[in-house]
Amino acid sequence: MSMTTIRPLNPNQELSALKALLDAKDGVRLEQCLPAVADGEAFILVAIQADAVVGVGIVHTAARIDMGWDPQGGTLDFLQSGGAYVENIEVKRPLRSQGIGSLLLRTIEQEALRRGCMRIWLHTGDDNLGAQRFYARNGWQHKETLQVPWKPIGRLSLVYFKDLSA
Ligand SMILES: CC(C)(COP(=O)(O)OP(=O)(O)OC[C@H]1O[C@@H](n2cnc3c(N)ncnc32)[C@H](O)[C@@H]1OP(=O)(O)O)[C@@H](O)C(=O)NCCC(=O)NCCS
Repeated sequence: MSMTTIRPLNPNQELSALKALLDAKDGVRLEQCLPAVADGEAFILVAIQADAVVGVGIVHTAARIDMGWDPQGGTLDFLQSGGAYVENIEVKRPLRSQGIGSLLLRTIEQEALRRGCMRIWLHTGDDNLGAQRFYARNGWQHKETLQVPWKPIGRLSLVYFKDLSA
């Protein structure tokens, strides 16, 4: 495997490369998160191989109104109780299962803790068995399964968390 570096996104130079990695909806959402990043209330880490962006993690540490969190689903509770929330983590498809995601996730956890968050949370789809295995293997616990308002009825989401102070 080529060497992988994890570091903060440079939004001025890497935004279009990163959007190319994501689907259109996630690309729009990425741009919506940039004001929160600029204010120090979210962070975006990228995985870099040979100067190319090959993965991303988007993480929030504050319950900002401009992020549009729905009160149902738990995200506001996670953030208002001092936790961090992983909005997205993704590795470029051909480079998956080489450890990049785990390196990204570990660095996300360290950065969230550095910013004072003792717990970190996320949602993942009930059909995303690969992601569920990935989180469990990285020491995250499944808390509950629920219908979140931003997914179609019947498409359940699993809430995972990890205690960072342990
Ligand atoms: C979830 C995701 C980020 C994981 O990234 P990744 O780079 O594949 O993660 P890793 O390589 O660290 O781990 C994935 C698997 O590869 C295996 N693996 C890691 N390094 C390996 C290596 N060197 N050789 C072989 N297998 C390896 C791990 O054991 C792991 O197996 P498991 O998931 O069955 O336990 C990635 O699959 C992804 O982008 N998925 C699509 C987006 C998505 O669903 N994101 C989650 C939203 S909630």
